[in-house]
Amino acid sequence: MDIYARITQDHDAARESIEQLKATTPRAVKTRKELFRNLKLDLWAHHKVEEAVFYAYLRDTTDMNSEAYEGLNEHHVINGLIEELDTFPVDSEEWGVKFGALSEIVDHHLKEEEDEFFKKAKKILSADAAKLMGERFDARKKVVLAAISPLDADLIRSA
Ligand SMILES: [Fe+2]
Ligand SMILES: [Fe+2]
Repeated sequence: MDIYARITQDHDAARESIEQLKATTPRAVKTRKELFRNLKLDLWAHHKVEEAVFYAYLRDTTDMNSEAYEGLNEHHVINGLIEELDTFPVDSEEWGVKFGALSEIVDHHLKEEEDEFFKKAKKILSADAAKLMGERFDARKKVVLAAISPLDADLIRSA
């Protein structure tokens, strides 16, 4: 899977989680918590790996400096909004409002990457290079996601 397909796979998963969250009511506390936790960890890991694998390369090899910084800044804003959301109960009005803002900025960001970033990257990356980058992205994503996922408490209790 090349880097474009691999990144899009994560984007589609994020879009799906956001749609599922939007379909929940404030009473579905458990479902919201679980869906949001997964979205949070997956987006954080996605941003980290995307920055290290995709953005870093584009920034060093193209005139994409300003776009890359804009993208990095959006990651920063999205990560911060997620952190703020984490401080409100999922059934509160604040959570609903902030989640709406998160959904909008994530939607904009993903689309921009798929439209603008991919178009520019395709001009400088050969098919083989894009495939290798996709493989590296996938391997690193697994490591980062595992590293930031909470430790299984049952595992420790039973030790
Ligand atoms: Fe991104
Ligand atoms: Fe992305």
